[in-house]
Amino acid sequence: MVALCGIAYRSLTSSLRAKLRETERELRETRDGIKDLGDLDVVRTKLAEYDGVKGKLSQAEKQVGSLTTQLIFVQEECDGYRAVIHGLTGERDALKERCATIAAERDEVQGELKAEQNKIKKAVQRDGAIWTDPVLAAKKVEFRPLDPDVRRMPIISMLNLKGGVGKTTVTANLASALAHRGYRVLLIDLDLQGSLTGMFLDEKEQERLYKENRLVGNFLEASFDAEFPNLMDYVHQLPGFPTKCQLVPTTDAQSYAEMNLTVRWFLKDSTRDPRFLLRKELQLARVTNRFDVVLIDCPPLLNVSCSNALAASDYVMVPVMPSGQSTARVPVLLERLKEIREAINPDLKVLGVFANRTRGAELTADESNRLDELRGQCRDAWGEKVHVFESFIRQATAIRDCEDERRTLGPDDEFFKTFAALAQEVEDGFPTFARPPAAKITSEVSL
Ligand SMILES: Nc1ncnc2c1ncn2[C@@H]1O[C@H](COP(=O)(O)OP(=O)(O)OP(=O)(O)O)[C@@H](O)[C@H]1O
Ligand SMILES: [Mg+2]
Repeated sequence: MVALCGIAYRSLTSSLRAKLRETERELRETRDGIKDLGDLDVVRTKLAEYDGVKGKLSQAEKQVGSLTTQLIFVQEECDGYRAVIHGLTGERDALKERCATIAAERDEVQGELKAEQNKIKKAVQRDGAIWTDPVLAAKKVEFRPLDPDVRRMPIISMLNLKGGVGKTTVTANLASALAHRGYRVLLIDLDLQGSLTGMFLDEKEQERLYKENRLVGNFLEASFDAEFPNLMDYVHQLPGFPTKCQLVPTTDAQSYAEMNLTVRWFLKDSTRDPRFLLRKELQLARVTNRFDVVLIDCPPLLNVSCSNALAASDYVMVPVMPSGQSTARVPVLLERLKEIREAINPDLKVLGVFANRTRGAELTADESNRLDELRGQCRDAWGEKVHVFESFIRQATAIRDCEDERRTLGPDDEFFKTFAALAQEVEDGFPTFARPPAAKITSEVSL
């Protein structure tokens, strides 16, 4: 029994054991299963995470897609900007180049401006004594003195720095007297008051010549502008003279020409020296063949016009009133003339000083003494003897009346004789070859 029990027990035990083992195995499997189930949760969790990640991924993809679209758009914009930048860079480079050119031009203009400023500075520092300016070799116009083969036409400037002494009156009436001696006279009015012109031409005619630019100022300006004007285009025929006489007129419009020439001369605005414009012309055959003598009526001051007269002249004639104030100015004039002779015309001579507007047909003792005194003063000032003309012209209403009638004295006028005598003396001062053959015949008639 016991054995049976034992056997049974053993068999039970073994079966139980087997069962136990089975159960233990199942338990283990169950545990494992439970363990696997735990993994499943992990998987589920992972899956859930995966879904989450997938969702995010899909969102990210969508974002990537939108970003890509934006990127393309931005790239296109960038391309556009690049093109603009390229264009702007080109413009910038062109501007840089332009700036460089402008800077160079500015530097050049600044340089020119500085040079102009220096010229102006120098010009305003000057005392205006332009006649003493040195003559530059390149601008010099040679003076050809009177010569039987070169020029037989004497050129005379009527000058006194004192106003109202009779420069204009004597120029006009001396021209008439010389014309009656057979001279073809060229009169040049260089006084901007235009008094000489006014003795021959009425206002209407003066206005016409002004409008036609046919005044001496127009000639001077054109010459200064490096043109080659012909003085003969500016002459005006004078009627009533026995020989062919002509006038280069002026009006007060000359003042503009005078000022213009002065300023431009100070600023060195020409290749020409404005003092030699008339000299150049009066030496040409187109003038010297046409006239026997030139009389220039000068202003009572030394300016560009007057310098032109003196640079072109062989002689200066000085009318003087025999009053203390008037004669005292003559030595001063001669001092200036000496400077001019030295600077621009070494051939300049004083033909003589003569009295105008004397009290009567005879000189008073006082007038005589003054003229004697003047001889000595002139010699001192000029450095050599100065001729004082025997002839003098008295103060006479008839002379003034002629001026009002816009005419000169003729053989029928009483006072013509005094001018004829003066003309004779003037002629005596010329070299023989410069006296026209007709002179002797007509002089006998008029004297
Ligand atoms: N001998 C004279 N008899 C009478 N009047 C005269 C005489 N000489 C000149 N006159 C008069 O004197 C005034 C001045 O003369 P004129 O104009 O000739 O002088 P000027 O030296 O040329 O003057 P300016 O320096 O102003 O040019 C004129 O009215 C003129 O008629
Ligand atoms: Mg005058």
